[in-house]
Amino acid sequence: MSSAIQVMVVDDSAETRQSLRMLLSFAEGIDVIAEAENGAEALHRLAVFSPDIVLMDLNMPVLDGIAATERICNQYPGIAVIALSVQNDVEYVRRCMRAGAKDYLLKPANMETLASTIEQVYREHCERSTRNAVAKLSEQLVDRPKTVALLSAKGGVGKTTIAVNTAVALAEQGKRVVLVDFDVQFGDTTLMLNLSPERTVLDLVRESTEIDPDVLDRYLSVHSSGISVLAAPQRPEEAEYLEAAHVRVILQSLQKKFDYVVVDTAPVANDVFFAILDTSDERFLVSTMNLAILKNNRMLMDLLIELNYDPAGVKHVLNRANAKNGLKVRDVERILKSDIYWELDNDYQWVESSINEGIPFVLKDKQHRLSKQLFAFTARLEEHTDRISRRNPLRKLISARARMVR
Ligand SMILES: Nc1ncnc2c1ncn2[C@@H]1O[C@H](COP(=O)(O)OP(=O)(O)OP(=O)(O)O)[C@@H](O)[C@H]1O
Ligand SMILES: [Mg+2]
Repeated sequence: MSSAIQVMVVDDSAETRQSLRMLLSFAEGIDVIAEAENGAEALHRLAVFSPDIVLMDLNMPVLDGIAATERICNQYPGIAVIALSVQNDVEYVRRCMRAGAKDYLLKPANMETLASTIEQVYREHCERSTRNAVAKLSEQLVDRPKTVALLSAKGGVGKTTIAVNTAVALAEQGKRVVLVDFDVQFGDTTLMLNLSPERTVLDLVRESTEIDPDVLDRYLSVHSSGISVLAAPQRPEEAEYLEAAHVRVILQSLQKKFDYVVVDTAPVANDVFFAILDTSDERFLVSTMNLAILKNNRMLMDLLIELNYDPAGVKHVLNRANAKNGLKVRDVERILKSDIYWELDNDYQWVESSINEGIPFVLKDKQHRLSKQLFAFTARLEEHTDRISRRNPLRKLISARARMVR
């Protein structure tokens, strides 16, 4: 394997890509291994190529450089992005850096500047990545809080029901739990808990310039079961104020104060959804015995695989598993191309009455079959500490480190 620094060039102009390739061919120890003509194509190609550095143009069609930079930095922590732009504008530079770019070069850049920036960014990134990997490994060894997300590609499968009852069941077991309603348009966790929140996540992002655990505290509502709730906004049109960056900061802050962060989500694969996915430790994709739901969840899994997520990082929950409608669990597993991790019984009347009364069913009767299944589910949560797993992130860091040492 070459020990040169491997670079991907992303620019919508074929001429610029060609001239960057030419300039860098004169730089010793730097190889251009791939090109892409926009951010989306770059992400696609990153599933195949593993560059150390991405040279990223900013103004591009389909997916611009800033959005692509943010995605790459989140999904591929081993890759460093250097922005390359004609924009000599401080605000632009700041946006790039906030998205995760490690440096910013103005076009046209000469060979010396390009090569020395690539070498320096590569060196610093390797050192930082190694430090982070070590810190992460030691973090995994200690008892750490868990963020548990309930997901689905279609509504009405029982995400909120499971999220609310999971949160309450964990609190019943003595855990400090916060339930976060990131179904920002039509969130109904507070309805299921019969809570009237004074403040919502919208107030939080509007009023707070900095979000930390103490600030967050003021926006949580407390339920009689002991769980705290970060409620969804009261009006659907307010949802747009919540951005992916908020999601990450909010969840990371809550992890500092609680043993469990349980996240309810909307059935929409948008930036907020991916931020939740990236910040969670356990991801449960909820399905029912319904072909339309199974088809959409399968499509979502295919999308995740395309985006280079490890499908094993998502566990499948089959809600209403014993509904008699012609499908069997093994049909479901065949459609989802995955084993079912947990099954929950179908009991419409019992669940509906719990929702209508605003009392989670695990509080109404702990001996009811569904309650028992929910308590067993939360007990299993305690047992394993699965981490986010994208394909080979660690291998990437190790090989980068190995190249640096050689
Ligand atoms: N185990 C169950 N047995 C019977 N009915 C259930 C079960 N779980 C949920 N339901 C019913 O399914 C309906 C939808 O549940 P819920 O609101 O939790 O779904 P959701 O996935 O959060 O939907 P949305 O995406 O629209 O928010 C509820 O009315 C509830 O009564
Ligand atoms: Mg819901």
